[in-house]
Amino acid sequence: MTVHFVGAGPGAPDLLTLRGRDIIASCPVCLYAGSLVPEAILGHCPEGAKIINTAPMNLEQIMDEIRKAHAAGHDVARLHSGDLSVWSAMGEQMRRLRELGIPVSVTPGVPAFAAAAAALGAELTLPGVAQSLVLTRTPGRASSMPEGESLSNFAATGATLAIHLSIQNIAQVVADLTPAYGAECPVAVVFRASWPDERIIRGTLADIESQLDAGITRTALILVGPALAAEGFSESCLYAVDYDRRYRPQSATSQWAGWTPEDEVKS
Ligand SMILES: C[S@@+](CC[C@H](N)C(=O)[O-])C[C@H]1O[C@@H](n2cnc3c(N)ncnc32)[C@H](O)[C@@H]1O
Repeated sequence: MTVHFVGAGPGAPDLLTLRGRDIIASCPVCLYAGSLVPEAILGHCPEGAKIINTAPMNLEQIMDEIRKAHAAGHDVARLHSGDLSVWSAMGEQMRRLRELGIPVSVTPGVPAFAAAAAALGAELTLPGVAQSLVLTRTPGRASSMPEGESLSNFAATGATLAIHLSIQNIAQVVADLTPAYGAECPVAVVFRASWPDERIIRGTLADIESQLDAGITRTALILVGPALAAEGFSESCLYAVDYDRRYRPQSATSQWAGWTPEDEVKS
């Protein structure tokens, strides 16, 4: 018996890895974080599967369900939204499962920031504009922020910021970022990226708050940074006509002349 953690993606049932889909389809028990994982994903469960929404449960109750499945020899698909590497609460569950000696596997998922960027048709790291993406959040009722991980500190780098779990704090987000980025810095809010009711609101730090309405709640990502509206950015060297690289040596004297992919295997 194994507990399979599966990143269930941003919402659309087809934005799941093939491995994740197959694992869900093979497990007689499915525990899903129903506050963010939409029911459409559960369509991948096999007929007759025991499907439990863990949103109203505490950690002990979740472990009880896993213990029961373990005793029955039933594999469990444990679904969390997006990818499991950020804000999934997988860490604390893993720790308990390790203590219980229950085997686990982890299958990554499409994170919300990637789905939001896709909805915007945006590359978040543009040459000469931003080469870093910070995945962050603001403090909430259940989580404080470690010292140093403040929005103003991140803003000082000029990186693109993907701010999670924070739409209710938009006024504070704007106040914290404006000194470093300036009031005209582009902002995009993507609500329910990849869901049927997805919405995109574009603006600047100066006007984004006034553009949001009461319908934009919890499942929204705030993206901030010059890369969101940059037009005059440089092209990457990678595809430049004269860029000397192993896949496109520019002359017989290039350090890459005669290189083949097999050379990489050998070295
Ligand atoms: C608990 S975190 C989960 C993050 C998730 N593990 C991931 O990889 O993206 C929940 C936050 O992620 C963001 N989020 C999750 N799904 C989203 C979606 N489909 N569209 C926009 N934001 C989303 C929102 O900021 C939400 O408050």
